[in-house]
Amino acid sequence: MNGLSGGKEEKVLFRRLVDIPSTTYATFGLYRYPAKFIPHVIAYVLENYAEPCMKVFDPFAGYGTVGLVSRIYGYDYELWDLNPILDVLHSVATMELKQVKVDSILNDLMSSDKEFIPDWTKHDYWHPKEFLPFLYKVWGFYHSLNDSYAKLLLTIPLLKVTRYFSYDDMQRQKLSKSPKSIARIDSLKQKDWKLIFFKMLKEEIKRLLQGLREYRLLSPKQTRAIIRAGVDSLSIDLAEDKDMLITSPPYLQSQEYIRQAKMDLFWLGFKESQIRELSKLEIPYRDVNPCDVLSKTYHEWETRIKEQHLQKLFNNYFWGVLGALTRLEKKVTSYMFLFVGHTSMRGHSVPIDKIFAEHFTALGWIHEKTLIDTIVARRMFSYNINPATGIKDQRTPVENLVILRRT
Ligand SMILES: C[S@@+](CC[C@H](N)C(=O)[O-])C[C@H]1O[C@@H](n2cnc3c(N)ncnc32)[C@H](O)[C@@H]1O
Repeated sequence: MNGLSGGKEEKVLFRRLVDIPSTTYATFGLYRYPAKFIPHVIAYVLENYAEPCMKVFDPFAGYGTVGLVSRIYGYDYELWDLNPILDVLHSVATMELKQVKVDSILNDLMSSDKEFIPDWTKHDYWHPKEFLPFLYKVWGFYHSLNDSYAKLLLTIPLLKVTRYFSYDDMQRQKLSKSPKSIARIDSLKQKDWKLIFFKMLKEEIKRLLQGLREYRLLSPKQTRAIIRAGVDSLSIDLAEDKDMLITSPPYLQSQEYIRQAKMDLFWLGFKESQIRELSKLEIPYRDVNPCDVLSKTYHEWETRIKEQHLQKLFNNYFWGVLGALTRLEKKVTSYMFLFVGHTSMRGHSVPIDKIFAEHFTALGWIHEKTLIDTIVARRMFSYNINPATGIKDQRTPVENLVILRRT
């Protein structure tokens, strides 16, 4: 089928096209980052389009999957994200594998009496008061560690176990309390929960070490990596040209990244005021200066949406994402790969891929094709009832990789 932008659509299953054992293999799944790329998409792109010495760029990098895969294929990369956790996740997922005495680190942790109290007014809402003095000590040890390798090794395991010891319902994508999570904590309180905490921590460290071993089997190379975490991609510029932009921009109805990560960010030492400022910059729930969207499909949809608040969301989304990408594309010399879902609005699926393809074709890019992949393992934000419309949303069933080439 041909779209208005000229490119063909093809159905694919990225998981079958690339030889990576699973979507959570190696260090690709150490942390549940919402709407994370499956590594196969990036591997497919690099295997089929990249040439030696190309530089790769992702302005909405999230977990940093683009970087992890670029390293395996030997490409330099630059990653940006509003979420400061990118820096931590990337450092852990690419850390060297060294011999470590896990038991000795854990013994030091157990006997430490340093304290760290997060700058977070609601921490006693999210953690039961019985656990808090213990968590202050665990994190006090973490923050006082001089051994940077041990610190890195502890980071993700501690974040995961601390979350398990909170009222967050981890099955949901948003930070939220539920009867299930309250029951989990009530049951923990009846047991030797400190022992459980340390057992879980040890298991998580083992899992991380196994992930690092697997990543090493994929032969990552020493490439140049630039990581800019906690930045607003709408307002910063690239210092140098990049050959390929590969990205999965935020979703039309998701503002949840900072909110989802904030518990972790507080324990890592971020302040409430910093988190508040970052949340205000998330696309699409922020006001953005209008930009010219050069797409017929966009304008058809714009007139179709009657409700003012939805119109605002719709425009802020496209002005935000396309505003940023249109500024950044000037420094992209060969290809852009945009991986997007169809989010529904008023019960209809918005063809975001088509709008992107039309817009960039009007700017002189060639729309090579759009590859349509069925989502199997990618964890999406899902809403039963959309809070903005009161209408039942469809789960995004497929995701599209829009491939654009410089003329
Ligand atoms: C779909 S996710 C990207 C996931 C990523 N592909 C991965 O593999 O984990 C979109 C990202 O856009 C980021 N984001 C939202 N608003 C932003 C902004 N103004 N500047 C930079 N990043 C932003 C979110 O923090 C989120 O990580």
